[in-house]
Amino acid sequence: MIDLTGKVAIVTGAARGLGEGIASKLASLGAHVIVSDVNKEGADHTVAQIKGNGGSAESFICNVADSEEANDLISKTAERHGRLDILVNNAGINRDSMLHKMEHGQWDAVISVNLTGVFNTMQPASVVMRNQESGRIINISSASWLGNVGQANYAAAKAGVVGITKTAARELAKKNVTVNAICPGFIDTDMTRSVPEKVWDMMISKIPAGRAGKPEDVANCIAFLASDQASYMNGEVINVGGGMVL
Ligand code: CAA
Repeated sequence: MIDLTGKVAIVTGAARGLGEGIASKLASLGAHVIVSDVNKEGADHTVAQIKGNGGSAESFICNVADSEEANDLISKTAERHGRLDILVNNAGINRDSMLHKMEHGQWDAVISVNLTGVFNTMQPASVVMRNQESGRIINISSASWLGNVGQANYAAAKAGVVGITKTAARELAKKNVTVNAICPGFIDTDMTRSVPEKVWDMMISKIPAGRAGKPEDVANCIAFLASDQASYMNGEVINVGGGMVL
């Protein structure tokens, strides 16, 4: 049984979709969850839902692409609660386009949220976690890091997330901090629902499980990685995709 009672967790991009599912799961296991997002209404909704289910949560509005805002998220959480046990870097956007049509704005937007945003929270979190000599960082990469038509920007960012994960795992291991990445496959959220119908069908046909995943499928794996049972898991890149990537 996973028990996260007394743990303080931050989940970025937790206003909806995958992040909402992750925040709810961690709270259901006893963690106090800081629900972070740029979308205040959505973040407040996630917090209300968690509290309605008997959990503990608060919202923190933050654009992770802004280093000062990301630094505030980490430092104010650590100051207020005296610690930071779990950081889940989930915030992400997509601006899909074929490479030959991709604009610099599409590239920059995705890199700044999905990759620089991860650095922006991990850097101050690594200071806090090194000092307290414990912590769990879980980064959401994607099956797309191996390449996906229309996602040169997204795939590059998500491959970068694998790189920073493995590096931080080596650097922080001696301080009892683990850093792992999850690669969700095709999970049923607003983001995947926005792809053209023919692409949706193409994606489902590539999944041996024969269905899109649910946010809970990913959240269950994160709960394990965040727990004391996963203390010997470090630098791993774990697919949660119903067998989409084998
Ligand atoms: N595999 C193979 N071929 C594909 C393909 C795929 N996944 N997606 C598109 N193509 C093909 C099309 O069939 C088309 O081929 P033809 O020229 O032979 O007809 C060609 O690529 C161009 O595609 P479009 O006609 O759709 O071109 P477009 O410029 O109108 O749109 C696009 C391009 C915006 C990339 C659009 O195809 C699209 O939105 N694709 C979905 C991209 C995708 O998979 N996004 C994942 C979103 S979910 C997410 O990001 C979460 C995660 O972690 C996975």
